[in-house]
Amino acid sequence: SDILHGEQVQLTCNLPTLIPCNAVEFIFNLNGDFVMNVTVGSSQSRVMLTQFKMDASHQGRYSCLYRTTSNGQAVSSPYSNSTEVVLLHPKISLSVSNVSMFWGSKGPKVTRGHSFSITCSIQPRYPGGLFHLDFSGSNRTETKPAVNHSASFHFPFAEYKHEGNYRCSYEVNVSTWALGSAKSNLTVTIRGKITQALPKSCTKSILYET
Ligand SMILES: *[C@@H]1O[C@H](CO)[C@@H](O)[C@H](O)[C@H]1NC(C)=O
Ligand SMILES: *[C@@H]1O[C@H](CO)[C@@H](O)[C@H](O)[C@H]1NC(C)=O
Ligand SMILES: *[C@@H]1O[C@H](CO)[C@@H](O)[C@H](O)[C@H]1NC(C)=O
Ligand SMILES: *[C@@H]1O[C@H](CO)[C@@H](O)[C@H](O)[C@H]1NC(C)=O
Ligand SMILES: *[C@@H]1O[C@H](CO)[C@@H](O)[C@H](O)[C@H]1NC(C)=O
Ligand SMILES: *[C@@H]1O[C@H](CO)[C@@H](O)[C@H](O)[C@H]1NC(C)=O
Ligand SMILES: *[C@@H]1O[C@H](CO)[C@@H](O)[C@H](O)[C@H]1NC(C)=O
Repeated sequence: SDILHGEQVQLTCNLPTLIPCNAVEFIFNLNGDFVMNVTVGSSQSRVMLTQFKMDASHQGRYSCLYRTTSNGQAVSSPYSNSTEVVLLHPKISLSVSNVSMFWGSKGPKVTRGHSFSITCSIQPRYPGGLFHLDFSGSNRTETKPAVNHSASFHFPFAEYKHEGNYRCSYEVNVSTWALGSAKSNLTVTIRGKITQALPKSCTKSILYET
């Protein structure tokens, strides 16, 4: 599932059936690597991996297995199906006032001189919060409050200086928790204005300004 940075995550491992009389050792893995083990008495059919506060280092696929003894024999379950834990990414999209947008291999291309907007949105989970938009071409970060879990950043006149990588992130305070999303990026290319040559004989030629 998708989790915000700072959210509490708890993972549990369940036994398919209660194994009587013996202690059971649960082993948790993250991306196939050992994370921790917990040994419980015979009466517990599930065990919780110690809660953690989400951050990038906790991303990955979790699975568990259990080991016990039955009639003096070691018994081990196969690994459980894994559960994926990832940081929640906002959606980033671009819209233009008119049909002056094209999709290139690297993302949208906006025609110079036209207006465009970059919209950041997030799946509804908490009310309020802020969206930040970083731009690779400057050190400025624009911030807007989330309205209906989204915010739009408007650029009235596309210039070559607007070309680059835009990154959206979301932040929200929930009681004393400061939660945040991962960053989602979009590469915007500005292309020259399409101009029609003036002489009648040349009306079919379309030039691209550079
Ligand atoms: C599980 O925990 C016990 C006790 O802390 C330890 O001896 C054992 O090696 C651990 N198992 C694994 C697979 O690390
Ligand atoms: C594990 O995954 C398989 C295949 O997706 C599914 O058929 C099975 O029901 C799952 N088992 C559990 C315990 O969720
Ligand atoms: C496209 O958008 C630009 C900038 O907003 C505007 O100047 C132009 O008239 C628009 N063109 C059309 C065909 O709507
Ligand atoms: C961004 O900031 C860094 C260090 O603060 C500086 O070296 C760099 O030139 C700045 N870049 C722009 C595009 O302003
Ligand atoms: C928020 O979304 C709802 C449902 O989509 C809509 O009815 C409402 O007008 C939106 N509010 C704002 C401020 O955009
Ligand atoms: C969360 O609270 C801190 C401390 O009061 C504040 O600096 C920050 O701007 C707040 N963030 C949001 C998204 O409201
Ligand atoms: C932008 O995001 C894509 C995946 O969505 C990633 O592969 C790429 O490295 C990112 N680029 C930057 C500059 O962060």
